[in-house]
Amino acid sequence: MADDRILFLDTTLRDGEQSAGIGMTGDEKMEIARQLQKMHVDIIEAGFAASSPGDFEAVSNIAREVKGPIIASLARAVANDVDQAWEAVKHAERPRIHVFLSSSEIHQMHQLRKNREEVMEMAVTMVERAKKLCPDVEFSPMDATRTNREYLYQMLEEVIRAGATTVNIADTVGYAIPSDFAELLRDIQAKVAGIDGVTLSVHCHNDLGLAVANSLAAIKAGAFQVEGCINGIGERAGNASLEEIIMAVDTRKDFFKVDMGIDTTQIYQASRLVSRITGMAVQANKAVVGENAFRHASGIHQDGVLKNRSTYEVMQPERVGVPGSTMVLGKLSGRAGLQSRLEDLGYVLSREELSAVFESFKVLADKKREVNDRDLEILMDEEKRVSTEPVSYTLDHVHFSSGDHDIPTATVRLIGPDGQVTTDASTGNGPVDAVCNAIDRVIGCTCKLVDFNVQSVTEGLDSMGTVTIRIEKDGQKYTGRGASTDIIVASAKAYLSAVNRMLAADEEAKLPPVGTTPD
Ligand code: KIV
Ligand code: ZN
Repeated sequence: MADDRILFLDTTLRDGEQSAGIGMTGDEKMEIARQLQKMHVDIIEAGFAASSPGDFEAVSNIAREVKGPIIASLARAVANDVDQAWEAVKHAERPRIHVFLSSSEIHQMHQLRKNREEVMEMAVTMVERAKKLCPDVEFSPMDATRTNREYLYQMLEEVIRAGATTVNIADTVGYAIPSDFAELLRDIQAKVAGIDGVTLSVHCHNDLGLAVANSLAAIKAGAFQVEGCINGIGERAGNASLEEIIMAVDTRKDFFKVDMGIDTTQIYQASRLVSRITGMAVQANKAVVGENAFRHASGIHQDGVLKNRSTYEVMQPERVGVPGSTMVLGKLSGRAGLQSRLEDLGYVLSREELSAVFESFKVLADKKREVNDRDLEILMDEEKRVSTEPVSYTLDHVHFSSGDHDIPTATVRLIGPDGQVTTDASTGNGPVDAVCNAIDRVIGCTCKLVDFNVQSVTEGLDSMGTVTIRIEKDGQKYTGRGASTDIIVASAKAYLSAVNRMLAADEEAKLPPVGTTPD
């Protein structure tokens, strides 16, 4: 019998976005937030409002629209951050301000360049400030696991006295070892005055590959909130993988004896969505959501599973929402088969949407023997991208040639904002470079390509490839994605999508400001 309820704080939209090479648009963040809402995550850390106007807007839109979970914004322990965090989350049904400040001597000496008393004062003052604005205040001593114990206890006591309702022990650099971390958690509960009246939380990074193990050890030692990201994305080696913690607690209820409010059947969708939006592939052997997580290869295992699944499966794929495949889709499949498979994957489509995706499905099925779930997800993404993305230019045609003794050359034909058709050609260092240069020539833009990532959607030579491209102009980055069975075509689509986003941002910047203070 479970005796208590554990809270899950998802920080995919904040710490997850700090992963190298990731950039999400406000719409993409909203899409992820909605999936986290479906998953019944308790707290969504929607961003770091003071970090940029874009993040401010994304947090405040999520706060206004996503009902159910607590919506939090991160804030450094400085007045402007705290105030901006509040402005961004204040319309949420249940807002939270999350203040953080380094507690370790290493950080205080080398980064903050302040003494421990000054830092203590900042922590208390900013928690007090946050508390005057918002009843729900989380405080994180950053680098807590490398902090002098007595100082850490004192800091926790003082912020609790100042009004913090959650204190979050951050293993910022992934330094903790599970048994030590559990001991730290127990000591905090024994020694910090006021700790019983607040939620004790943990936030673990994965530098030593121990983030999930540390989070689980902390739950066992009395933590009631755990923080993490879908697919374990995040700064450096990432954060604790939220879905792994959830499934460990769910599968080993007998051991953890805690309740949770998560709808585990939404996990797979969340994982796929985050992977597609961030362009970060999920490794095939990743626990819970990897391609191979529920595949049995050896004869002995297959024999066992056929007789009884529990022989080699500690959890059922349905429990995490992995759709069971019953039919193969290909060029002979009809609309009904496609619709039924898409519904299994969680897509609800209008007649018009189904017709549009059926067209693209037929084109793909002509090129590929089997169209599998991953392909369908990509088709759906492409449909969505085309119908929601700002579009100034569309790709009408692309042609390229290259070889080991040829100069890579590309020709593109684009349809512009007023329907004008323009063709131009260019050479490049490679075919992708040539295609991007040709697009630049048509549009007359000069942006720098800063990131290029290709992923094969499925195995096999006929697999679709998705390309994620990031471009930079005037210090701003824009992400674009494209998919095709030909990766040069996918690259052209991705590059054009990033350029379209850049052009839309340029247009927006020309509009007169609507009002500088958000209401
Ligand atoms: O890793 C960390 O310390 C953080 C804090 C802001 C909680 O992300
Ligand atoms: Zn972190």
